Amino acid sequence: MTDTVELTALVPDFNSDPYPHYAALRDRGPVHRVRLPDGREVWLIVGHDEGRAALVDPRLRKDWSAHPQWQPAEGGGQLLANMLQSDPPRHTRLRKLVTRAFTARAVEALRPAVQRITDDLIDAMLAKAGDGRADLVEGLAHPLPMTVICELLGVPDLDRERFRRWSDAFVTTDGPGGTENTEAELARYVGQLVEDKRRSPGADLFSTLVRTTDEDGDRLSGDELVGMAFLLLVAGHETTVGLIANGVLALLRHPDQLAALRADWGLLDNAVEEMLRYDGPVETTTWRYAAEPVEIGGTVLPAGDTVVVALGSADRENSRFAAADRFDITRDTRGHLAFGHGIHYCLGAPLARMEARIAVRTLLERCPDLALDADPAALAWRPGILMRGPVRLPVRVR
Ligand code: HEM
Repeated sequence: MTDTVELTALVPDFNSDPYPHYAALRDRGPVHRVRLPDGREVWLIVGHDEGRAALVDPRLRKDWSAHPQWQPAEGGGQLLANMLQSDPPRHTRLRKLVTRAFTARAVEALRPAVQRITDDLIDAMLAKAGDGRADLVEGLAHPLPMTVICELLGVPDLDRERFRRWSDAFVTTDGPGGTENTEAELARYVGQLVEDKRRSPGADLFSTLVRTTDEDGDRLSGDELVGMAFLLLVAGHETTVGLIANGVLALLRHPDQLAALRADWGLLDNAVEEMLRYDGPVETTTWRYAAEPVEIGGTVLPAGDTVVVALGSADRENSRFAAADRFDITRDTRGHLAFGHGIHYCLGAPLARMEARIAVRTLLERCPDLALDADPAALAWRPGILMRGPVRLPVRVR
């Protein structure tokens, strides 16, 4: 048994570079009791094998509405009626409804659109960068996945500023939900999107889902429709922003790797996998709870307790990836956990990969002299342990 680790004592250091802290925890054992900055305590799994095993353990549940002590904030019930917060059989049913839209084949059809959106964003970023300076997060990493998911879903007029604020608040609170106000406002807003779509449907994914509810009510309830739209919007853009930003940052901090990539675009796909492994945008999984006492890595987690897998730590385990702290775009990255594992394995992985490949290649081709315009040690990072990425990434584009 280990003592409770006070995460607050490690912040802000932990936010900018959690990896040495994870390494120290791994040295002491694969599972730790951790107190988060908001006072809540969770079990944090930092080992690779233990994390992988936990993610396929059916005793670790996602449906918080079945947890004896959990009380949803207003709107929370609707937002959490989604596949990522469900266990089988509901999880199976909800995931099946949208699987086809996210297969590698379906995503391939989006390639021209993703390239066009990337080109337009880079044009705008370069035009604005009169002095050669730009913020890569604002100019490309955030708007690209946001625009793509809005087009795919069919909500081109999403109020992006408001949605970004809510969604940021939701994913930085570290719990299974956001703050009460955020949840209520988000649920109302997404509920309104559903109503708008019902009135004027199109050929998009959202319209297909609305029809599924209306014509076959028992397959997707009204709450589930709100939950689905919410999950896809949040998951579709909160994550890929970090992949692009963290990935480009890793390349700029490793000029030999950047040069190798520029010299051989055949390395691109593996480079993106290494970006995911080395500094993935989803640092920890979402919360699970033990439905009964569960033993992991020699520690028994009591029934009802919360469990989180530190994916970022698992992917730096030396016994799994040789010299795991080294960024090496030619290494064998197979088995990384950046997209999770088991039944909740990321539905959007093919889309995220395609967006990142197109973004990185187009950016590097358009900006042959791309360089970091900040001291990497001074970058501000997103708060919380769920999402990892710099708030801004100042670069010189020429
Ligand atoms: C680099 C970008 C991305 C990363 C690193 C990522 C990572 C993850 C991870 C780790 C999980 C599992 C969480 C857990 O088990 O607690 C997950 C689930 C999920 N992701 Fe992603 N994601 C990314 C992009 C996307 C995109 C673009 C979409 C598209 C809409 C998406 C949709 C989903 C959905 C729907 C789930 C829930 C799947 C389920 O419960 O069966 N993700 N993602």
